[in-house]
Order: sequence, then structure tokens, then C-alpha cells
Amino acid sequence: MYYMTFDKNKKNVFSAIQPSGTMTLGNYLGAIKNWIPLQEEYNCIFSLVDLHTITVRQDPKEFHKNILEAYALFLACGVDSQKSIFFIQSHVHTHAELAWVLTCYTQFGELSRMTQFKDKSSRYSENINAGLFCYPDLMAADILLYNTHLIPVGIDQKQHVELARDIAGRFNGIYGDVFTIPEPLIPKVGAKIMSLQDPAKKMSKSDSNVNAYISVLDSEEDVLKKFKRAVTDSNSEIKYSGSLTGVDNLLNIYCCVTGRNINDAENEFRDKGYKYLKESVANAVTSEFKSIQSKFNTYIKDLGYIEKCYKEAAKEAYGISKEIISKVFSKVGFILK
Ligand code: TYM
Repeated sequence: MYYMTFDKNKKNVFSAIQPSGTMTLGNYLGAIKNWIPLQEEYNCIFSLVDLHTITVRQDPKEFHKNILEAYALFLACGVDSQKSIFFIQSHVHTHAELAWVLTCYTQFGELSRMTQFKDKSSRYSENINAGLFCYPDLMAADILLYNTHLIPVGIDQKQHVELARDIAGRFNGIYGDVFTIPEPLIPKVGAKIMSLQDPAKKMSKSDSNVNAYISVLDSEEDVLKKFKRAVTDSNSEIKYSGSLTGVDNLLNIYCCVTGRNINDAENEFRDKGYKYLKESVANAVTSEFKSIQSKFNTYIKDLGYIEKCYKEAAKEAYGISKEIISKVFSKVGFILK
């Protein structure tokens, strides 16, 4: 039933998401929605990066449930286990192994400059662990283990991808061509969906205000309620300003979901008020989520199927990654077993 033959003529795509609770509209529009069509054109490898998630303390029971739900949700969004390798990171031990090697080829100063580290260490000041600091090396390992050419991500991950490129280039400079140098694939619209409560901030699932983000599994009523409460501007004009206003964010979301461009959307809402705009965005989002939610409800009841998918995927991912890890081990001088 499962097979994965990598077509050598196609480029490889790798991307990942942390299974840390709910999946937001930001994750969906900035990343997952863009992964789906790539499956037709590229060799795709996707991962739920649970090793990354424990850089922030998790409740074990809740975390376990979140991982299974995230797996079901990705299948529901259209990640196709027949076309792509979709695995759980901790099932493939080469990730932790390569991460350690890369950590030894990364400078303290480089990791200190990561804005996500600065942001997370101020948000979780009671637990600034070394994992949070070395997180970009684990991410670099994820990417570099699969001869990745393209990494579809939202804009917030660009700095990490650039560091992965630098580390790969440095390693290749010392040992010859070991790693493929990857490129980020950042969508033109939707690369940064902002908080509904503070349009200057990224929409994030870790926001303490649940009205700031939409979850892909939110009910129709909740979606409408949250959009109705969304912050807009003080005048009533519906125009895209390009300066991160609440209206810009709503127009962006609307365009991402409906596939319309900003000019068309501005014309559509020209003489309408904010209430109409908010209801239209909510309706568009709800209708996008409807079939995902119904598929999710089917997949989550079939844990046997989910287990079969992730186990098979882990074998395939390991099969590919072990070639790179052996090459790396041998280049640095380890004795291969
Ligand atoms: P994570 O789990 O925070 O987010 C997963 C994906 O969602 C995108 N994203 C957004 N896009 C637009 N607007 C937003 N508000 C928004 N919030 C999140 C992210 O850019 C990302 O593409 N470190 C990564 C996971 C990771 C990874 C990797 C990604 C680990 N290894 C290798 C790519 C390749 C992270 O924490 O993403």
C-alpha cells in the first residue's frame, strides 16, 4: 500500500510544524495550504517536529494527544501519505544525531542573534534551556538530512533557514559537497498572518488571548465571534495600506483563502463597512475549514490507520536520512559501524 520512490529528476521539498496544540489559521495559510499542491510536483517530506516542541515545557498527556491530533489534521488538510513521507521527528533518530554534529559547527554568536530565541527566551524566562538556544541546529538537521532543495515556510522561519544554509555551506567548505544548499519558499500572500487583537504581532497559538488567533478546528460560531472582535482601524475605509493594519490583515486573509487579489477585494468591499468585511472573511474561512474538520473527525477515530501511516513514513525517512548521516560521520572521522 505504501511506497515512496524518490524521482531523481524532481526536487526535494522538506517542511515541518510543531505539534504544540492547536493549528492556527497562520500555520495553515503560511505553510500547510502551500504544501498540498507541492506534492504533485516534488518529492515531499513533511514532519511533526516533536523534539522541537519540548524546548517549551509540555504536559505529557496533552502533548501525546496533540501529536496524534496534529497527524490527523494534516491528513485532513490534504497531506497524502501515498505521495509524501509524513513522519514524526522523534521516530527518526538521525535528526538528533545530525543536530549534535551541526551544533559543533555553529557559533554561539550566530545562535544568539536568532530573533525567535530572543522572543521565546523573554516569553518563557523561567525556562531558557539549552534546547531553545540550539533549536536552529535541530531545524538545520531536519532540512539537511534529505537533500532538500525547497523549504515552504512562513516568513518567521526565514532567519532559521538562512542559518541552515550558512551551516551547510560551512560544512561543505571544510569537507566537500556533503549537503544540498536549500532555498526557502515563502508565499507572496499569507507569509505572515497577524494577530486579530494586535495586528503588529504574528498570529500565534501560544498567544494568551484566544481571540487573537483562529484555530483550524474552531467552530463556525467561534470563527465569526473572533473575526467580529478583530481590531480594525479608526476610520471606516476598507483599503490596503501596506502598513500592517487590522484591515490589511483581514484583506490578506480573505485573499489567501479565496484566491482573489487585493485590488479585487478592495473593490468588493469599497462601499461596505467593517461589519460586512469581518463577516465575509469569517464566511470564507469557515467554508475552507468545513471539509477539513469533517475529514479530521473521521481520521482521528482511526488511530490504527494513523499509526500505520507514521510508522511506514518513519522507515522511509530513515532510509533516506541514513545515507547523509553516514556521509557526515565518515567526513568528520567517526568509525562507521
Ligand atoms: P511552527 O510550528 O511555529 O510553524 C509552522 C509553519 O507555520 C508558519 N507560521 C505562519 N505563517 C504565516 N503567519 C503566521 N502567523 C504563522 N505562524 C506560523 C511557520 O512559518 C512555519 O512554516 N521551527 C519551525 C518548525 C520546523 C521546520 C523545520 C520548518 C522545524 N524544523 C524544518 C521547516 C523546516 C516552527 O517552529 O514552525
